Amino acid sequence: MRSLAFSISFALVMMAGQVFAQVQDFDSIQLYTLKNKAGMTVKVTNYGAIITSIQVPDKAGKLGDVVLGYDSVEGYMNAVDKPYFGAVVGRYGNRIAKGKFELDGQTYTLSVNNGPNSLHGGIIGFDKVVWKADYRQDKNEIELTYHAKDKEEGYPGNLNVSVTYQLKDDNELLITYKATTDKATPVNITQHTYFNLKGEGSGDILGHELMLNADKYTPVDETLIPTGELPAVKGTPFDFTKAKAIGKDIGEKNEQLTFGGGYDHNWVLNRSEVDKGKMILAAKVVEPTTGRVLEVRTTESGVQFYCGNFLDGRLTGKSGKPYVHRGGFCLETQHYPDSPNQKNFPSTILKPGQEYHTQTSFRFGVEK
Ligand code: GLA
Repeated sequence: MRSLAFSISFALVMMAGQVFAQVQDFDSIQLYTLKNKAGMTVKVTNYGAIITSIQVPDKAGKLGDVVLGYDSVEGYMNAVDKPYFGAVVGRYGNRIAKGKFELDGQTYTLSVNNGPNSLHGGIIGFDKVVWKADYRQDKNEIELTYHAKDKEEGYPGNLNVSVTYQLKDDNELLITYKATTDKATPVNITQHTYFNLKGEGSGDILGHELMLNADKYTPVDETLIPTGELPAVKGTPFDFTKAKAIGKDIGEKNEQLTFGGGYDHNWVLNRSEVDKGKMILAAKVVEPTTGRVLEVRTTESGVQFYCGNFLDGRLTGKSGKPYVHRGGFCLETQHYPDSPNQKNFPSTILKPGQEYHTQTSFRFGVEK
């Protein structure tokens, strides 16, 4: 299904000549709608593999769009401060210190785009390229593929990446990431959707109640690079092992909260040897006024919980309402940040002959 809004905005971008060099094959940008028997819809574009909309019911059965974003391609392209709304980020989601790492005796230098560091794959990461789309009606899924070239953004190896969004009838959106390479390379692909279960543009998310299935986290330095320690969350504002409002401890005097401007950290998921590689519950979020619930499951070892600290009301989304400070939160399932430079973290190196394969699901429900 081709969206008119997306086609028109494509033409506008062409005329204005904005960020044209960042994308190839413009006229293949499309918008796809997945719908299930329960009436839930998910919209996805092959620009940046972005989820542009997720409509789910509240406790009264009223549908609402619970993700931040735009209704035109140029909205995503031109957003100030690059919020990565709804996008797939990679080849390495999150930060790599100073945009450098060593692999097999060679030093690689990446595009630096976040202070001294490389963030979310560099200047033109997976969020800013056009993917090939294959919509499969029988499975209610869309597979997006992208070929990242050797040396793209400084990374070694030709990487063939695929991301599949499948919408199930029990209101679960299952995301499968796959990749293969012809040279050893770090890979850490994730989804950067901002949720607001009250509905996008409905103020901040501080009243949402969050549970994170994680006893430890990875504290960071002032540029948000992990120090390498894995301390317990117990007794700190980072303890979400029992559900609490996101805003409950966010104002505490804590150096880590100052560095991130709030929560912008990776939690270490409680995963035993037995469930290695299996989907486990990573997070559960309940929004008390609408009753909407989001459960996040993943095969990954960590989750970056970012609560929209950099939003400040300047961006106005698809419904014309401003996205205020902490107007959305992300649960970016992933390996730990800066793993290529951190000897004690699980490896993120993919080698030729291996297949990168991870899964994450967002499942929606209601609690009355
Ligand atoms: C990630 C980072 C944040 C911020 C957002 C995008 O979640 O950890 O620091 O850069 O992306 O604004």
